[in-house]
Amino acid sequence: MTDAFAFPDGFLWGAATAAHQIEGSPLADGAGPSIWTRFAHTPGLTHNGDTGDVACDHYRRWKDDVRLMRELGLTAYRFSVSWSRVLPEGTGRVNPAGLDFYSRLVDALLEAGIEPLLTLYHWDLPAALDDRGGWLNRDCAGWFAEYATVMAKALDGRVRKWVTLNEPWVITDGGYLHGALAPGHRNKYEAPIASHNLMRAHGAAVQAYRAVGRHEIGLVVNIEPKYPASDAPEDQAATRRAHAYMNEQYLHPALLGHYPPELREIFDDAWPDWPAADFALIRQPLDFLGINYYTRNVTRADGSWPLKAGAVKQPSATYTETGWEVFPQGLTDTLLWVRRTYGDIPLYVTENGAAFFDPPVAEGGRVRDPLRIDYLRRHLRAVHEAIRAGCDIRGYMVWSLLDNLEWSLGYSKRFGIVHVNYATQQRTVKDSGRWYANVVRSHGRALGEPLPY
Ligand code: BGC
Repeated sequence: MTDAFAFPDGFLWGAATAAHQIEGSPLADGAGPSIWTRFAHTPGLTHNGDTGDVACDHYRRWKDDVRLMRELGLTAYRFSVSWSRVLPEGTGRVNPAGLDFYSRLVDALLEAGIEPLLTLYHWDLPAALDDRGGWLNRDCAGWFAEYATVMAKALDGRVRKWVTLNEPWVITDGGYLHGALAPGHRNKYEAPIASHNLMRAHGAAVQAYRAVGRHEIGLVVNIEPKYPASDAPEDQAATRRAHAYMNEQYLHPALLGHYPPELREIFDDAWPDWPAADFALIRQPLDFLGINYYTRNVTRADGSWPLKAGAVKQPSATYTETGWEVFPQGLTDTLLWVRRTYGDIPLYVTENGAAFFDPPVAEGGRVRDPLRIDYLRRHLRAVHEAIRAGCDIRGYMVWSLLDNLEWSLGYSKRFGIVHVNYATQQRTVKDSGRWYANVVRSHGRALGEPLPY
């Protein structure tokens, strides 16, 4: 094997999941409901009426899942904590059984030699806090800081990498602007408020963490690079707006202390004048950034509300089952853009992966998923290219360890490198999982080899 694709020493090879998508048993052992429990139980809001009541039953099968990760040779695992398992009302009373679940999981990971990356918030706000206005209530910064303190006090001795929020853009765009995700609001006036409060909550949680924690804390954002469909000034302007809205809206305030000016142009009278003091709270020193990357967007102005830029389909490209163009170069471009814009902060690719149609599990327990292998291989090479170009990238997490609940799309999309039979909860490592294990074992060198399957 050549060293052409060897990764730096200490580079973490992992997989990622999120509580609501895999755990199941959302109300077990004294947990409170979250906005996702409610949303999924409202008729008509999710594909096929699917809910997270069972999901991958990870809440009961976590030991087997850790064993599986060990078999794959993973050196890191990114998971999220369900806030309302730990604090059933969101604030105040701690539920020891909820905390214990994560404590045992962390112990098992460490025993298996797997570094835990803990995300505090992956979209499942306690329903009790939504009743108080959720992310629209400025008090959310204090609520989130309180929760961060509880978690850090309990686990900081063992968890060394913490994440405040997963993808604030999706939380706001899906939850408050377009309504496809919980809590399902569609309101142009609410979206900027939710965004801003999420960032205040992020800042407050980092501050709270610094008071009790001794390790590293960062933020995870999804970045989708925007490329103009043509040289026409309208397309260029639409691209700039789309980029500011999706890629700069959260990183700018978190790292530079201000919003990109395009947001006022986009939201117009719905974009408030924010109190200057808020930016001091939002802009906290961070130890790393997590970048989630799936696809790019080729942007064309479509003449309606400035936000509504059309995406141009690429005739010769491959598209995933969620309709996303496979574009590995975009990951290199993204990582280099982050470095150019925000400086040399350590980066992790905290999610990258694809849903493709998988054939049923074949005799002998094989799932042939060559498109996913091709996707992961090309994106890992793209990460390597960014490292060669000087980016400080410290780890890569496949989305996802297991096939799981794809939010409102229910169980209809499979992103796992491990197949889950939802009727029996049987796990079967897909070809992509076997291939990834080989990449991990060779510390990247296998990326230079011809495809085995
Ligand atoms: C989210 C995951 C989700 C994945 C695929 C990311 O936006 O963090 O929870 O399953 O994308 O859609």
